[in-house]
Amino acid sequence: MKRFALLLLAAIALIAGAWAAFVPQTAHPPLASLPAVPVPAGNPMSEDKLRLGRMLFFDPRLSGDSSTSCASCHVPQLGWTHNDALARGYPGHRLWRNNPTVLNAAHYTRLMWDGTLDSLEIQARSAMQAPVEGNGKASMVEMRLRFIPEYVALFRQVFGDEWPQLDHAWQAIAAFERTLVSDPRQVPFDRHLSGDASALSESARRGLALFEGKAGCIQCHHGALATDEGFHALGVPRQPLYDSHPLVQIAVRWQNAQRDVPQAVYRGLEEDLGRYYRTREPADIGKFRTPTLRELKYTAPYMHNGAIATLRDVVDFFDAGGGSVPNKSPLLKPLGLSEDEKNDLVAFLESLSMERPLIVEAPVLPPTLPLDGGGELCEQPVQGRI
Ligand code: HEC
Ligand code: HEC
Repeated sequence: MKRFALLLLAAIALIAGAWAAFVPQTAHPPLASLPAVPVPAGNPMSEDKLRLGRMLFFDPRLSGDSSTSCASCHVPQLGWTHNDALARGYPGHRLWRNNPTVLNAAHYTRLMWDGTLDSLEIQARSAMQAPVEGNGKASMVEMRLRFIPEYVALFRQVFGDEWPQLDHAWQAIAAFERTLVSDPRQVPFDRHLSGDASALSESARRGLALFEGKAGCIQCHHGALATDEGFHALGVPRQPLYDSHPLVQIAVRWQNAQRDVPQAVYRGLEEDLGRYYRTREPADIGKFRTPTLRELKYTAPYMHNGAIATLRDVVDFFDAGGGSVPNKSPLLKPLGLSEDEKNDLVAFLESLSMERPLIVEAPVLPPTLPLDGGGELCEQPVQGRI
């Protein structure tokens, strides 16, 4: 019986293999317009929740020393990311990766450069509680919110909380993030998809043909977000700060230690191993999640380590067939693009961004007042740093 089962398995494997070889390797979903934002059943949207989420996104009091809000690193005027190559951290720290934008993050099924998180609610909590980012101790931050009458009233109204519950703060922030998406009427490529024949310049049209053809970008960048949400090693250039900045070097080793890389390894480790942290497969070393190509106009510099400054430099990088790492994706090959073709590709990439950036003004935040409610302000910490 056992033998029969084994034979059957072998036969299935053979058939599956033959089928995989038969299916053309070029079958990718096409580029597409964004669907409606997916909203989880446990966190429905409402106007008041969005108002609360917007306040909390900008409120530095969610961090340990009331200095750092989500908007300190995801700055609306800077494409909801930051133009530093490596993200700033909680005061006294530096981070080891480039800030991704929160624009359209609601459409990802895998968050973070190594795809370790899968919900905006969990991501918000971890951002504000990670020692090097928000460093906010849960019970203390929750107590701070309970001292702010405007928040007490809003949490009560939105969630029915007797007193603000921190988990509801993450829900409100996630709901707000679900409104930070590209407006297709403002994105030339989306207008092109919906039939506007003049939406793309001649150059962007040629760029689109290259993207889907000779340059092969579509192999990894497809669908509505222009990403397969898969993991690939490209061998992007090393971030110079990894060698020159002591706080960054500490960050790299600390991040490795956090991810349970054995001490003997992380003490000398100067790399970001990417997807490997999740799977522990050596083949995943240096692989990162394919990012969206939407809104790139506003989100430079690029790549997980911010090592590439402009879109033209990105195109040069792919034209050269990527970098050199042992497990580099076999999909990357020298492309032999001419100067004109490179310009066309850049023009196409730019057509995936809104013509005007999406900016949300920082809301006026209620102050923290002493307990009797009527006295002097005991603290005025609501000016987050940028
Ligand atoms: C100190 C800077 C900093 C702060 C503060 C910060 N972030 Fe981030 N954020 C980052 C960095 C860096 C990453 C990528 C980290 C990684 O991949 O390991 C990130 C990733 C994300 C992502 C995932 C995006 C993607 O493409 O997968 C979202 C969403 C996000 N942050 C939202 C928030 C929210 C909401 C807050 C506040 C609750 C916040 N961030 C606070 C720096 C920051
Ligand atoms: C093998 C899959 C693959 C192919 C093919 C590919 N990319 Fe990517 N792309 C990725 C991955 C993965 C990253 C992130 C890599 C990292 O940070 O280490 C990326 C990053 C980028 C970025 C930076 C985005 C950001 O927000 O930082 C741009 C722009 C980009 N690719 C454009 C292109 C273009 C243009 C082509 C075709 C010439 C192309 N890609 C081909 C997988 C691919």
